[in-house]
Amino acid sequence: MTYGTNHQIRLAARPVGLPKPSDWQFTESPIPDPKDGEVLVKVLDLSLDPAMRGWMNEGKSYIPPVGIGEVMRAGGVGRVVASKHPNFAARDHVNGALGVQEYVALPGAQLTKIDPAMAPLAVFLNTLGMPGMTAYFGLLDVGQPKPGETVVVSGAAGAVGATVGQIAKIKGCRAVGIAGGAAKCRYIVEELGFDAAIDYKAGKLKQDLRQACPEGVHVYFDNVGGEILDTVLTQLARRARIVVCGAISQYNNTTPVKGPSNYLSLLVNRARMEGMVVFDYADRFPQAVRDIAGWIKEGKLKSREDIVEGLATFPDALLKLFSGENFGKLVLKVADA
Ligand SMILES: NC(=O)c1ccc[n+]([C@@H]2O[C@H](COP(=O)([O-])OP(=O)(O)OC[C@H]3O[C@@H](n4cnc5c(N)ncnc54)[C@H](OP(=O)(O)O)[C@@H]3O)[C@@H](O)[C@H]2O)c1
Repeated sequence: MTYGTNHQIRLAARPVGLPKPSDWQFTESPIPDPKDGEVLVKVLDLSLDPAMRGWMNEGKSYIPPVGIGEVMRAGGVGRVVASKHPNFAARDHVNGALGVQEYVALPGAQLTKIDPAMAPLAVFLNTLGMPGMTAYFGLLDVGQPKPGETVVVSGAAGAVGATVGQIAKIKGCRAVGIAGGAAKCRYIVEELGFDAAIDYKAGKLKQDLRQACPEGVHVYFDNVGGEILDTVLTQLARRARIVVCGAISQYNNTTPVKGPSNYLSLLVNRARMEGMVVFDYADRFPQAVRDIAGWIKEGKLKSREDIVEGLATFPDALLKLFSGENFGKLVLKVADA
């Protein structure tokens, strides 16, 4: 059976610094026919993630790089068009690594069924998806916050950060967010219930941190790295935990990553710093989804998505993550449900 034409965006070159238009290639090919065990999916919403920048680089990471000429990797949600896998039927909704394209045929084992009655589809790419899982396990398993402790999170108005701060509040902690600009700072305090927000672009982070965290920082959930991490290191409480989740300030560097010069604060404060990768917790995702869905239902946790439209806008839309133009989880709508 033939289904028509598929449009795809492929990696054309490995970027130096911020990705530029010539790093991408727009291609057309026939929509694939699913083989035995496969499912043909129409892509509806794609997750745009800071990690995509890392996947474009050559070299060893927690996941292989996207090859030159390959369709750009992206998580997404879509609708089943045709299925040759017993667990899926046409019109089911699914979540998986769909790629930056309009249609994809994937083995059923690589897809998870989702229930669109539970939440808008984009929420499955945010609080009920990978960023939500990152916030939940990064904070609770690695950060191990105790009631009354101060949790500081950077990238606080973004997908992972906003959820970290809200879970910290649910667990009885004081939540302090670091974000860029007055609007994001107002949002995390007034809408999300953070105790305090610090605009790092105001240029007095150390002073503002000291004021917002009079007992020091017990847990720092780091999404940005660089100078912000280095400054938070100067404000640690005894036995503080730093969750190394990401370092977006460093992803487009053309010079070596800037490491923290204040790391001896870990020694002085008997503190620790630990990296985490969300995929390691895959077998526990159902537990996190249950908890987060429950908190959303009880009105304790909010999910904000920033939706841009059209497959062709992908190269420009991705850059919003690095300029801070996204306000909430950045989602690319490829087609209407
Ligand atoms: N370890 C894992 O398994 C895992 C999983 C998912 C995500 N992550 C990481 O988590 C972090 C957040 O991801 P997300 O999806 O939630 O993105 P996001 O926070 O929704 O979007 C990125 C935000 O980063 C901020 N930013 C950009 N450049 C910055 C800079 N130079 N300094 C400080 N802040 C900067 C911007 O916010 P402002 O306007 O506030 O500057 C921007 O809106 C990323 O580092 C990502 O790689 C890790």
